[in-house]
Amino acid sequence: MALPRDFLWGFATAAYQIEGAVDQHGRGPSIWDSFCKTPGKIADGSSGDVACDSYNRTAEDVALLASLGATAYRFSLSWTRIIPKGGRGDAVNQVGLDHYVRFVDDLLAAGITPFVTLSHWDIPDELHRRYGGLLDRTEFPLDFEHFARLVFRALPRVRHWLTFNEPWCSSVLGFSLGQFAPGRTSDRTKSPVGDGATEPWIVAHNLLVAHGRAVKVFRDEFQPANGGEIGIVLNGDAVFPWDPADAADVEACERKLEFSISWFADPIYLGDYPASMRDQLGDRLPTFTPAERALVHGSNDFYGMNHYTANYVKHRTGAADRGDVAGHVEILFDNKNGDSIGPETQSTWLRPCAPGFRDLLGWISRRYGFPKIYVTENGTSIKGENELRREQILDDDFRVGYYEDYVGAMALAVERDGVDVRGYFAWSLMDNFEWHEGYETRFGVCYVDYENGQRRYPKKSARRLKPLFDSLLTKG
Ligand code: BGC
Repeated sequence: MALPRDFLWGFATAAYQIEGAVDQHGRGPSIWDSFCKTPGKIADGSSGDVACDSYNRTAEDVALLASLGATAYRFSLSWTRIIPKGGRGDAVNQVGLDHYVRFVDDLLAAGITPFVTLSHWDIPDELHRRYGGLLDRTEFPLDFEHFARLVFRALPRVRHWLTFNEPWCSSVLGFSLGQFAPGRTSDRTKSPVGDGATEPWIVAHNLLVAHGRAVKVFRDEFQPANGGEIGIVLNGDAVFPWDPADAADVEACERKLEFSISWFADPIYLGDYPASMRDQLGDRLPTFTPAERALVHGSNDFYGMNHYTANYVKHRTGAADRGDVAGHVEILFDNKNGDSIGPETQSTWLRPCAPGFRDLLGWISRRYGFPKIYVTENGTSIKGENELRREQILDDDFRVGYYEDYVGAMALAVERDGVDVRGYFAWSLMDNFEWHEGYETRFGVCYVDYENGQRRYPKKSARRLKPLFDSLLTKG
């Protein structure tokens, strides 16, 4: 097995999960700052207030990346560090912007290619209060476009841009299940805004349009002179039929993929929402205006793929519930014969199953014309890891195995299935604020000792990736 020699690999993080320093140098609050203050929302009652203090430790983080051999690093910008209130009429915080200019310079000086996510869920709180944030079909995309233009201009050395991280999570976890900021649970009620759809689908629509606006600005105003590329990051789990002999389960698998991945990827690559979604959701799913369609269709220079796990999928009987975000399917970890998809981890939703990764890479490639793909996140938590002593945590053979299997599956997909993957990012560089799970779940390849000076200690997995990629990057 081999990957091209210019294949980029490294680690990924997100601003709110690692930066801390939430009140430093004029940063404004995001919806996650407010959400964390709502009692009962975060498992351990914590927040990203301090996190890994990466805002004040950029030199340390760059040195860490370099010591692990990473050739690329994916991180996100804190929108409210740059525009504390977030909107196009609001003041720009130059100190916040300069922070990222320096950080990009430092990465490049260390030979590490930056992949920059414009927004990893931490939407400005003020925009949420002002007009409903992600719920606003006009204002939100325009404010995002403004923010995007500002940072494209300030960071001309960045060649790889990602607009949004996992819009599925913002839409479903943030506006249907209420597990993520802003914590709305609105899937079963008619929304007061939009064209008759309900909130998760409105939010998704607005994120797509906002993505399209940022891409247009990039292509019109920056790409001609600077080059570079831009895309969105989509998450999606692999699927296996609960009963492979049951055509309804096979069909349910397809529908599950359409409701999670194609919800976003179809408008971008094919120009409209999948028929299965329209059939089930009717007018709850917004309709693209011609202007919106023109912004969204064809708006990816590459496909950013976040991938962690697989499921067995079983069809549901009876009429589909029009408020069902999953597409009238049951999602399970065991199949008809009682086989388990993979071992348990600390994350209830995550069971390793590397063959699913190869399958899904193939499915995405076939459906969307074999686009260039960056695997923008892949990784695992470990059951009970947080209860162990530090020396034991550093010995993370489970995570080592996960990366070996998943990177192997990806290499197979490239070699045998014609899939065009150009880069890979392990999630995450270090243990960090795992959203509603707080600090109890660790995803890092480096252990962070939060109590003792925030010291980072590479786990075994941190050191496994370089030899792994060195052995694979032999083609061309
Ligand atoms: C997100 C990360 C998160 C990771 C593990 C991804 O969905 O982009 O921010 O920490 O999964 O849950």
